[in-house]
Amino acid sequence: MLKEENTLAHLLDRPLTIGNRTITNRLVLAPMTGLGHVAFRQLLDELGGCGLLFSEMCSAARIPHENRTNSAYFRWRDEEADHLVLQLLGPDPERMVAAARRVESEGLFGVDINLGCAVREICKFNQGAALLKEPQAAAAMVRQVRRAVRCPLLVKFRTGWQDDPRLPVELARRLEDAGADALTFHPRVAPDVRTRPARWEYIGLVKAAVTIPVFGNGDVFDAEDCLKMLQTTGCDGVALGRIAIARPWVFNQWTQATPAPPINYLDMALRLLDLVQIHFDPIRALRRFKMYSAYLAANFSFGNTLHNRIRNAVDIQGMREALAAFFQGGPQELKRPNMNLMR
Ligand SMILES: Cc1cc2nc3c(=O)[nH]c(=O)nc-3n(C[C@H](O)[C@H](O)[C@H](O)COP(=O)(O)O)c2cc1C
Repeated sequence: MLKEENTLAHLLDRPLTIGNRTITNRLVLAPMTGLGHVAFRQLLDELGGCGLLFSEMCSAARIPHENRTNSAYFRWRDEEADHLVLQLLGPDPERMVAAARRVESEGLFGVDINLGCAVREICKFNQGAALLKEPQAAAAMVRQVRRAVRCPLLVKFRTGWQDDPRLPVELARRLEDAGADALTFHPRVAPDVRTRPARWEYIGLVKAAVTIPVFGNGDVFDAEDCLKMLQTTGCDGVALGRIAIARPWVFNQWTQATPAPPINYLDMALRLLDLVQIHFDPIRALRRFKMYSAYLAANFSFGNTLHNRIRNAVDIQGMREALAAFFQGGPQELKRPNMNLMR
């Protein structure tokens, strides 16, 4: 094992207290719509090592009326409830409160408020990153939710709408003051959809501004990146996005002094294919595996051939055949995944 992986495990494999709960290690799954669903999270749990799981973002307006057994998003396994945070999205504090109460009553680890999604269709309804335009109102929403629930309350946010480090520092202080128990910070301005590199130096500034735990997020793709983020920013933990999908075993590899043997990509993909069929109806199962396949394919030279074949498959059998054909050819694994496929 590399020396930095040893140090990394040492930094990550430590408990962290968030509000009135404690997680066992500090490497967590970032929220990702279409990717961080119940089936993928089961795969992660089977591979071991993840400290906390964030759900895909869920509309706060819908949560009070959702039925766990048939909802596509508000859905989890009992086994993950104690380390699953449900992410809520919405413009309206009252609805946010009602949704947070429902999440708490279901016994999940906690609630996360989305102040980071910069997708235009989301922002035009004054939610996600749009709320960063009015930091006082965003903090007021967090305060209202804080008053309503006792479970851990987390907030994920990004730099803001201008590239000015004072904005996230100021917001982080407001969020702590409003009662947030932990922050996940992605240091990019709102219109930037992962084109320019994340500005990790801002994570250090945010961490220094508050006393609650801060998870750094953005552009961690290997063990070296992860160690560098922890050491240069002083953040308490790291939230992994795209690399968690492309290489789900990194949670085990980076947090354990003696990691489990590496997993075969094909076996892993086939297992996820089984899991999406267990958890979703046939159309959703296909859609979700297609989305995942871009991240799987990013690991290989000429991976786009795999992604294209899976994207064009009309059923599960077609997907199995695409996987078998690609891996039979002995594809060459890339040291770092192909970013063009992991947007
Ligand atoms: C496909 C995709 C979906 C995402 N969905 C969400 C989401 O629902 N909520 C959220 O807060 N962030 C979302 N994000 C942002 C990630 O949580 C993370 O901040 C971003 O990918 C940067 O981290 P990374 O460089 O480790 O991927 C999404 C990112 C991707 C790639």
